[in-house]
Amino acid sequence: MRICPALNLTSLFRTLGLLVVVSSAPAARAQDNLEHRIDDLLSRMTLEEKVGQLNLISHGPPLNWDNIAKGGIGAFLNFNSAEEIARAQRLARESRLKIPAIFGLDILHGFRTQFPVPLGEAASFNPELSRLASVWAAREASHVGLQWTFAPMADLSRDSRWGRIVEGFGEDPYLGAVLTAARVKGFHEGGLATTVKHFAGYGAPQGGRDYDTTFIPRAEMYDIYLPSFRAAVEAGTESVMAAFNALNGSPATASGWLQTDVLRRQWGFRGFVTSDWSGIAELVGHGIAADGAEAARKAILAGVDMDMMGELYVSHLPTEVRAGRVPEAVVNEAVRRVLRTKMRLGLFDRPDADPSHTDAAFPSLESRKAARDVAAETLVLLKNRNETLPVGAGIRSIAVVGPLANAPRDQLGPHAARGHAQDSVSLLDGIRTRAAKAGVEVRHAPTCDLFCRTIDHLPEALEAARASDLVIAVFGEPQDLSGEAASRTRMALTGKQEDALKALIATGKPVVLVLVAGRPLELNSLAENLSAILMAWYPGTEGGTAVADALFGDVNPSGKLPLSWPRAGGQLPLYYNRLPTGRPPLPNNRFTLSYLDEEITPLFPFGWGLGYSNFTYSNAHIANARLTADETLEVSVTVTNTGHRAGKEVVQLYMRDPVASRSRPLRELKSFEKVSLEAGESRRVTLHVPVDRLGFHLDDGTYLIERGAIQVFVGGSSLAEKIGEIDITNETRRAPLLGE
Ligand code: GLC
Repeated sequence: MRICPALNLTSLFRTLGLLVVVSSAPAARAQDNLEHRIDDLLSRMTLEEKVGQLNLISHGPPLNWDNIAKGGIGAFLNFNSAEEIARAQRLARESRLKIPAIFGLDILHGFRTQFPVPLGEAASFNPELSRLASVWAAREASHVGLQWTFAPMADLSRDSRWGRIVEGFGEDPYLGAVLTAARVKGFHEGGLATTVKHFAGYGAPQGGRDYDTTFIPRAEMYDIYLPSFRAAVEAGTESVMAAFNALNGSPATASGWLQTDVLRRQWGFRGFVTSDWSGIAELVGHGIAADGAEAARKAILAGVDMDMMGELYVSHLPTEVRAGRVPEAVVNEAVRRVLRTKMRLGLFDRPDADPSHTDAAFPSLESRKAARDVAAETLVLLKNRNETLPVGAGIRSIAVVGPLANAPRDQLGPHAARGHAQDSVSLLDGIRTRAAKAGVEVRHAPTCDLFCRTIDHLPEALEAARASDLVIAVFGEPQDLSGEAASRTRMALTGKQEDALKALIATGKPVVLVLVAGRPLELNSLAENLSAILMAWYPGTEGGTAVADALFGDVNPSGKLPLSWPRAGGQLPLYYNRLPTGRPPLPNNRFTLSYLDEEITPLFPFGWGLGYSNFTYSNAHIANARLTADETLEVSVTVTNTGHRAGKEVVQLYMRDPVASRSRPLRELKSFEKVSLEAGESRRVTLHVPVDRLGFHLDDGTYLIERGAIQVFVGGSSLAEKIGEIDITNETRRAPLLGE
């Protein structure tokens, strides 16, 4: 089975040299009609009604229901029942111009059925699964009348001190672009408009501290942090959410460079931008606005169309417009963008969701199966000494220990929308059910509470371990320690978890650590002494069945790390696509890239993951070693499953430009393909990379493809072997602006 990443149509057309103007007369006519409908509506709206469309208010205080029928609120968030949505929508339709409201919610990895958190999904390296998970999330949410999700989160991060790394796709711009596009497409297919967030540079806060400032050179923004957002725009996201952080001293919520120059002038985005929660009001805290009026003025002029929970647009924009400090044309354009989305979603024309609908219709058998299939491919087998796993015939009893074995809420992860703990199959239950089929006895001892501040119940766990053939230890990070406002300075297992694991290892029984967490955690000596390590992320509603599938070998783990796993938190930020230095690490030479107290390398590298099969690579071949910038690199390699069971392998292609006008990363992922191979099967895999993807940006956004050698690497992780070089024979330089 071949699962290949979604191709970027822009690159494809460039590659094929086709100047394809995809248009059709009916589509153009429909667009004109829609714009005329907006013109007509705008011409009849008062200034207050216009600004009301830019007002995004959450369910609960301080929502003033009377304000809705006055046209004072055009958008809502945190409504999650069809009945309440219908009530608010009725009021909106009673307003003078009967403009319907739009209802959004944070639906990141499921609505009622929870799929693995996005960072886990990224580990599947399977955009088809990311699309599928988003389809299910959208189907369930739109069933209760929601029309808009504040997802996908597209913030690349290289620093797992930052708790929100769990919401994104990890550290690679190409993987992030492919998965973000797949998620946008999935949400659309399921019936939701999307909001790609948080624009931009939010994932690189100083010290890993959420909400803190970021300093990222513009060239690095274009090369590293922006590609996933651009992929969302090219995939048709309806909206973008401005980030809380200041970028290079300019708060993103008032950054005309981000919200207008890049997003609209360079990328041609025609949707609308919403602030994040009170993001506009926070411009006062950022020190660039003296008061709410100045904050509202700076945000709307920068290109932020909607005010989430600030109530500053409704409070100040009419005055700012009448005082001539904000042109009404700017407000009109913001309203036009919002009305365009509402019309495209059919809110003016289609009936509202049935108010009797509830999320009790879910999870369904189908959604559970989808959640189980997705979760199974997110699991990353990091270590498996002496084939401890899968659980073999010699294992007749298992001790399941640890605070996260029976944690049906925590396995859902943060931002779990309407995910209900009672829907979960806990890891304990999943293992018990599967073990029973194999006649394997299961003992359970939680060892400690969720945060493991004390290990008073360790003796029971040790007793269970000594009486069993195998210990499955489920430890990690309670969901409250992950997600927003969850930055950490210490990356080890919290509380006494590490002590408990050391005691369990000291029993002499083989200990399999199953990590339930939203980020890589410092394992210290555990990594050496554990028999096996399975990273389960937050595996969602069907986490127990998926983990049991992997532990017992019904599923052959195929996940790969979407980020570099640090040995110590002090290594952060840590990432594989780093720049070279004049002093690369040399053994026994401290005057080169090194630490005095730790290895310089990650514990497990980006793209790494084991399985119950081994895969070998042979006969790699570059079809065309001399290429112009508008051609496509074609690389073929034979991949063989030398194991005794079918499995999936993520074939990865990296590049390096060894000599350029600027230092270029040691490795850059440029293509990957996940293939399924039967035991013993060999497959010729061919990967294509438009040379157009091998360039880099300058600070002004110019995109440069330089002539000269490019090294090519192919393998099963970022440690892939070099297979040869190509020579780009001409230089191409592309200006950033798409034209005014
Ligand atoms: C939060 C988050 C954002 C979310 C929004 C609405 O503060 O930063 O990701 O979509 O508020 O809940």
